[in-house]
Amino acid sequence: MRKALISLFVAAGLLVAFTAGCKDRGNEAGGGTTGENVNLGLFVSTTGAIATFGLDTKNGAEIAVAEINEAGGIKGKKINMVFYDTESKAESAGNAATKLATQDKVLVAMGAVASGLSLAAAPVFQANKIPMVSPSSTNPTVTEQGDYIFRICYLDDFQGGACAVFAYKDLGKRKAAILANRDDAYSTGLANFFKSKFTALGGQIVTEQTYAANTSDFNTQVSNIKGSGADIIFAPVYYTDMSLIAKQVKAQGINVPMLGGDGWESDKLVPEAGDALEGSYFGNHYSQEDKAENVQNFVKKYTDKHGKAPTSLAALGYDVVYFVKQAIEQAGEFDRAKVRDAMAGIKDFKGVTGTFSIDSKRNARKPISMLQIKGARFLPVRQIKPEEVE
Ligand code: PHE
Repeated sequence: MRKALISLFVAAGLLVAFTAGCKDRGNEAGGGTTGENVNLGLFVSTTGAIATFGLDTKNGAEIAVAEINEAGGIKGKKINMVFYDTESKAESAGNAATKLATQDKVLVAMGAVASGLSLAAAPVFQANKIPMVSPSSTNPTVTEQGDYIFRICYLDDFQGGACAVFAYKDLGKRKAAILANRDDAYSTGLANFFKSKFTALGGQIVTEQTYAANTSDFNTQVSNIKGSGADIIFAPVYYTDMSLIAKQVKAQGINVPMLGGDGWESDKLVPEAGDALEGSYFGNHYSQEDKAENVQNFVKKYTDKHGKAPTSLAALGYDVVYFVKQAIEQAGEFDRAKVRDAMAGIKDFKGVTGTFSIDSKRNARKPISMLQIKGARFLPVRQIKPEEVE
């Protein structure tokens, strides 16, 4: 018994010593840095139904990391990017967050793309007080998860409203049908924001159709839309579903334009939809045609490396790394709480996806570019600014 007690004390002592050791090393906030490196996490989906979102984001982020490391790193430390594929699944995003927080002990985490995946990861980072910055999750509730959660893209209340303004004013549409994925926060959110703005403008929602996750046969919903007399179909869904929907819309002989949000943006959209989306429209985060020098430098660098122009996902992936760099530099220390505070105060950050400031809700306010699908190209139609929608 005595022996057991002694070993218990020894063990407890060791534990205290170990924890103290960690704390010391963690002056730089319980990890975050190791030797010459600053550890930053990236968690996006590079496999599964939305794989191109993560592949593009990762490509963009890697260009920024290489540039920064070549130029000497962040406050003398090289970026070590710890990457997890979130496999297009919320559960994998939650697991990646736990690993980044407790095992890799990153200073800051960047991700996810899909709002549903960011929503699965955010509570983990918030509980561990690790700043998380989503490059591209637009659902408003993402940053509501806590004061360590940020984003550098516009929000869906704006995006949905801008799509409604575009449909009503630019395209002259008055009768919209909505088709949304009822199991996805991004999709249902965007559908509702579109609906309230379109009706406020005087338009009518002639039918609201929804489907469950992993649906591939949309024919019932499509035939309901056909019977509704809609003059436009708003489908705020991701590109894999959209290609299938577009083909079924075309097969049923419906001949009205379709409209969507940023979730359509993928190199796979048109190859998989064939010509079913010709002339349709969607909104996104930047324009490759922007003549600004920083935009053109990035477009050239990316195109030279990958043989294709960067999507807005790639541009946001590039911007998020520089955003984190600026926050760490302004914090002056590799300390998560200080980095969080610096992030909250960033003003006039000049990114490839535009110049923006972080507001009191840890969000960015940026314009949206409405694009039209012509062949395999996405041509800019016009930019809509936040003031036009509010
Ligand atoms: N905004 C989408 C979401 O929140 C993700 C996305 C961003 C998709 C940019 C494509 C381009 O779920």
